[in-house]
Amino acid sequence: MSGEWVSIENLKNYEGKDVEIRGWLANRRSSGKVVFLIVRDGTGFVQTTLSLGEYFDKESLKTWERLPLESALIVEGKVRREERAPGGYELEGRKVTLVSSSDEYPIQKKDHSVEFLMENRHLWIRSRRQNAVLRIRNQVMMSIHEFLQARGFTLIDPPILTPAACEGTTTLFALDYFDLGKAYLSQSGQLYMEAACMAFGKVYCLAPAFRAEKSKTRRHLTEFWMLEPEMAFYDWQDNMRLQEELVSFIVQEVLRKKRRELEILERDTAPLERIQPPFPRISYQEAIEILQRKGFPAQWGDDFGGDEESVISQEFDRPVFIHHYPAAIKAFYMEPDPENPDLVLNDDLIAPEGYGEIIGGSERIHDLTLLERRIAEHHLPREAFAWYLDLRRYGTCPHSGFGLGIERTVAWICGIHHIREAIPFPRQIYRIYP
Ligand code: 4AD
Ligand code: MG
Repeated sequence: MSGEWVSIENLKNYEGKDVEIRGWLANRRSSGKVVFLIVRDGTGFVQTTLSLGEYFDKESLKTWERLPLESALIVEGKVRREERAPGGYELEGRKVTLVSSSDEYPIQKKDHSVEFLMENRHLWIRSRRQNAVLRIRNQVMMSIHEFLQARGFTLIDPPILTPAACEGTTTLFALDYFDLGKAYLSQSGQLYMEAACMAFGKVYCLAPAFRAEKSKTRRHLTEFWMLEPEMAFYDWQDNMRLQEELVSFIVQEVLRKKRRELEILERDTAPLERIQPPFPRISYQEAIEILQRKGFPAQWGDDFGGDEESVISQEFDRPVFIHHYPAAIKAFYMEPDPENPDLVLNDDLIAPEGYGEIIGGSERIHDLTLLERRIAEHHLPREAFAWYLDLRRYGTCPHSGFGLGIERTVAWICGIHHIREAIPFPRQIYRIYP
């Protein structure tokens, strides 16, 4: 009698039952009378024991013992509790069906260079650690939707092909757009979310963003995913409160639902347990003072790079907001501080443990004249922004929003060094394959 097809992550519900697992051979070993097949199905790994006797004779054991890694197969057997097995269960094999035998698999146990693994990214995502990272990414995405939907936000998808810059003209990917001249890959959905929040109140997009970044750091991709909520009638402080609640929710949900993946990654979870609101808040001025106290040659007006962010974040045991940056080093759309127009009502959220900025947000300029002036000062093409200016003509109101970088957030939660492993198929200056 053959059992139900179940996924490995659900084996715990089938103790003592006959089941079927469909997957691939991740590893195998043999002790003469018993062959051990480590099978993965994408949801986990399980050891299947094939013993000489009722179900397997010498000949068949020999075949399974030599089965090439990554062959596709179906194993049937009884689920048994086994403390020593990863996941706590193993399968007493009754029958193995080969679906396809694999060619010699290029990724072996031995240490490969990251370059080689990236070149084989289409296969590397099968490995235990990469699988764990991407399953945590999935959880982060789902938790974002859950959090925002429960708070009455509407998901609004932004265009990817756009007529103008949002985050500065130096990082634009341009392309020829038929008879209409240049178009650009979106750097951010924000401007469209501003239109949408005037139609729906609270909105968000979760979409790819593109930056022709010249920086080859462990925090930069040319294509990354960004969550961008935008809220009508929120000021910059309402904005920060939403950010700390969202980030805390995401981290706590991963801790609750992705324990096994965090274990595979050997992530120290103590720093994650601390991620609860409120997060500390410091002004840009205070950030400069921290840096100077620590011997950094920081001057008022400087922007912070990864090193500066790490030094600042070491002062705190949870993410820290830095607010009130100089207007001169921030985007054109940020609302000036009414008490000091050289500053803006913005915040950057710096993750702990050296992961740097994961969020950039601000209150937006809602006054038409001021916004027109900023667009001119930044040498942005007025025609492309006509619709955006309209939002300041028809029922303009204070509003705020932010962008959360998915890969940086996932890399931080997973405790991995480079964000290229936090996205299935990374795009970097020197990589567009596979
Ligand atoms: O600070 P940024 O540039 O802000 C914006 O794009 C705003 N329009 C967002 C908004 O207010 N709606 O980017 C936001 C976040 C950063 O904090 C970072 O986490 C991530 O996006 N990010 C990148 N991640 C990976 N690679 C890059 N090149 C990134 N550039 C920004
Ligand atoms: Mg930023």
